[in-house]
Amino acid sequence: MINAQELQRRIYIQGFSGKKPAVTIHPDRLEALARRKMSAEAFAYIAGGAGSEATLRSNRNGFDQWQIVPRMLRNVETFDLSVQLFGQHLPSPLLLAPVGVLDLAHPEGEIAVARAAATRNVPMIFSNQASTPMETCSAQMGDTPRWFQLYWSKSRDLVASFIQRAESCGCSAIVLTLDTTMLGWRPRDLELAYLPFLRGMGIAQYTSDPVFQRLLDLPDDPAQRPPKPPVNLTTLRNVVRTIRNYPGSFRDNLRSGKPLKAVRQFTQMYTNPALQWEDLAFLRELTSLPILLKGILHPEDAKKAIDHGVNGIIVSNHGGRQVDGAIAAIEALPTILEAVRDHIPVLMDSGIRSGSDIFKAIALGAKAVCVGRPYVYGLAIGGTLGVQEVIDQLLADFELNMRISGCSSVAELNPEYLKQA
Ligand SMILES: Cc1cc2nc3c(=O)[nH]c(=O)nc-3n(C[C@H](O)[C@H](O)[C@H](O)COP(=O)(O)O)c2cc1C
Repeated sequence: MINAQELQRRIYIQGFSGKKPAVTIHPDRLEALARRKMSAEAFAYIAGGAGSEATLRSNRNGFDQWQIVPRMLRNVETFDLSVQLFGQHLPSPLLLAPVGVLDLAHPEGEIAVARAAATRNVPMIFSNQASTPMETCSAQMGDTPRWFQLYWSKSRDLVASFIQRAESCGCSAIVLTLDTTMLGWRPRDLELAYLPFLRGMGIAQYTSDPVFQRLLDLPDDPAQRPPKPPVNLTTLRNVVRTIRNYPGSFRDNLRSGKPLKAVRQFTQMYTNPALQWEDLAFLRELTSLPILLKGILHPEDAKKAIDHGVNGIIVSNHGGRQVDGAIAAIEALPTILEAVRDHIPVLMDSGIRSGSDIFKAIALGAKAVCVGRPYVYGLAIGGTLGVQEVIDQLLADFELNMRISGCSSVAELNPEYLKQA
């Protein structure tokens, strides 16, 4: 991991020869530059939120409700960003949040991110909706920790298969996302009538799965068939794309009809609105890996999570993509920490854009944070290099905020460094 002063030095020395950083340093410009690299549909899918996007705004404004109160003369010459999480030593309290369909941002998608994560030893959480199977990403990561994020589908056999595959490819924790038992109302996507999954993107964990493949071999239930769209040139183009996105040869896939069947099968089973607390026992029986619940925002749910034997919580509102007007994750964090009382680690995501945001979340008591869109924007701008730069910049900014505030290790950060604005 590169330290902040080295990174500053490198940037300023390169500037002497007229070279600027490959990826913008400014968080707001990051989104604008990434936008230029993506199709309108891809950008809408990644940047957008639910409804009026009030939750997106709250996630950002929530960080302004806290201010850092630096302390002086505390010898911060040496420093330590590392944390211990579920028995693993991590170089920093930063993880890459599970983000689906990364090939929307860059053709190398998840592979580019896995490579970047491995060079920085920053854990990557594989999305259930990835466009690359978890095994392929794992193969890029050496000893760098990776976790698997699960969407609980309508088939328990499929859930069991995903967990078994995650264990086999070296994932060291399971993140069960609870806030997406159905897709939020997302005006940007609805306006463009665009959902990547219907074009066979973001379903690689399924199409690479033996249980899912067996389901594909069963005859289609005509009652479950969705209505057919009108056929025109765009329809045909999208059919060809869907076939191309399916593993194997175009000719075989055209003949078997599996790509379109896979999309149909996926849409029928991928969410499970019937999921409830009692179901967690099934997951607990499947694996001895730590289980984290992602999407907890209410302190009573945090207490229930502990009662149901889970090992960690990610306070998150899915980056504002699910409920419009939901509480900001950073605002929910203190009440959840109070309810959890150190029984299990609490992580948070949604709205982290800078080192100062990381500082505030950790000082409040989060053990680590996950970042979503910023690394996806880095990916869009520069592939693996872009993701590396975003990670380096976030950590350098965090390190400097921490040390200049008089704190030399993550373990020392506490609420006394903060004041409510
Ligand atoms: C394009 C996109 C796709 C996402 N896909 C998933 C997913 O497959 N599984 C999941 O648990 N969360 C998913 N998330 C939510 C992220 O894990 C994370 O909670 C969120 O991005 C954090 O907010 P931030 O983008 O403001 O950092 C997605 C977020 C975005 C922006």
